[in-house]
Amino acid sequence: MSTTARTLEGKHVLLIVGGGIAAFKSVTLARELLARGATVDTLMTDAGQRFVGAVTFAGITGRAPLTDLWDASFSGELHVELTDRADLIVVCPATADLMAKAAAGLANDLATAALLCAKSPVLWAPAMHTRMWDHPSTRSNIAALRARGDLMEGPVVGALANGAVGAGRMSEPTAIALAVERALSPRDLLGVRLLVSAGPTHEALDPVRFIGNRSSGKMGIAIADAAARRGAEVTLVHGPIAIRPAHSSVKLQPVRSAREMQDAITALRDVHDVIVMAAAVADYRPAEVATQKIKKSGETLSIELVKNPDILAGLGSWRGEAKRPVLVGFAVETTDLVGYARKKLERKRCDCIVANLASDGFEGDDNVVTIVSADGEDALGRAPKSTVAGALLDRIKALLKTV
Ligand code: PMT
Repeated sequence: MSTTARTLEGKHVLLIVGGGIAAFKSVTLARELLARGATVDTLMTDAGQRFVGAVTFAGITGRAPLTDLWDASFSGELHVELTDRADLIVVCPATADLMAKAAAGLANDLATAALLCAKSPVLWAPAMHTRMWDHPSTRSNIAALRARGDLMEGPVVGALANGAVGAGRMSEPTAIALAVERALSPRDLLGVRLLVSAGPTHEALDPVRFIGNRSSGKMGIAIADAAARRGAEVTLVHGPIAIRPAHSSVKLQPVRSAREMQDAITALRDVHDVIVMAAAVADYRPAEVATQKIKKSGETLSIELVKNPDILAGLGSWRGEAKRPVLVGFAVETTDLVGYARKKLERKRCDCIVANLASDGFEGDDNVVTIVSADGEDALGRAPKSTVAGALLDRIKALLKTV
């Protein structure tokens, strides 16, 4: 089972819960943020508390929600302290009333005082009836908040509280959590076009069977998601896999065989600044693909295999001395990890090779990699694939500056 990447480790989120039916979803949002490693302070408006009990947030976050600007048990200025420690304020659900007050700069309760005192970015997750959402007052309040740099996630068109369908349904908690990740990630890959391959290839034997391998696609997808969070334009060319990137901005290009993967990458290589080959591409394919199911007959069955194109080596020769796009290969080995990786680095003419043992790399949520380049070797300890992806992107960013 896959675990959520700890992309918000060390981050402090102030979750303001406004008064709307969608407030129940903010409990799930709190869970999503905690699972990503964030510390969550909850601030509930009076109206918010009519929809969900403060005790629910206390149980989930391990911290009592704050509700009262005049809380006498608190010695300092609550709205100042809360906003001092927040890396991001998320308003979920964001009601028309809260947005109007924030746009006007009112500060007559704890939520609005905190919003007026904010040092960090503010992310609004609006939820309201379509007529409220479309009202000129709401439109101009949203325009004012956006003009100040506030972020919006949603709303989407969908079923509203009363069963009607229209604009104003709050985004789902996962989408809001991803917006939080984006807001809290450095946007240091803005404008970078990155192509990453992931997953296995399937080489058909007959209409029923194929030769494949254990790749789940997790490593490549972790790179795609981490790059999208940091602002890159990402295309994922992937073999047959059961999972998808979390970030909807990642463009998907599904393929089955090595030759299909090669065609897809060749068509896209010119318009990318970086190509990362994390896919486990089959080195051989059956010489012939039977048109009908191969029937059981003798005790043994021999299958003749022919070599597949080496996509990465082809990219290395095509790029030649140009140094663009930045080329990153992977190497999966069972022995002499760095020795084989270094040979692949030279033969396939890439900028670096991310080497991993088969026992570490395939299928799991963690990996243990050594980044091998002309400069030497950088062994990263065991880490979640999202962390490995982040470290690799830091390396790629440096390469983009130098080539
Ligand atoms: O998907 P996961 O379950 O998360 O597993 C991750 C992973 C183990 C698949 C990944 O971390 C990894 O190591 N991917 C590369 C696997 C592989 O094919 O390694 P290789 O040593 O056989 O190939 C070397 C490089 O050449 C790779 O970048 C590969 O994509 C590329 N190659 C290989 C053969 C081929 N015909 N064409 C290629 O482009």
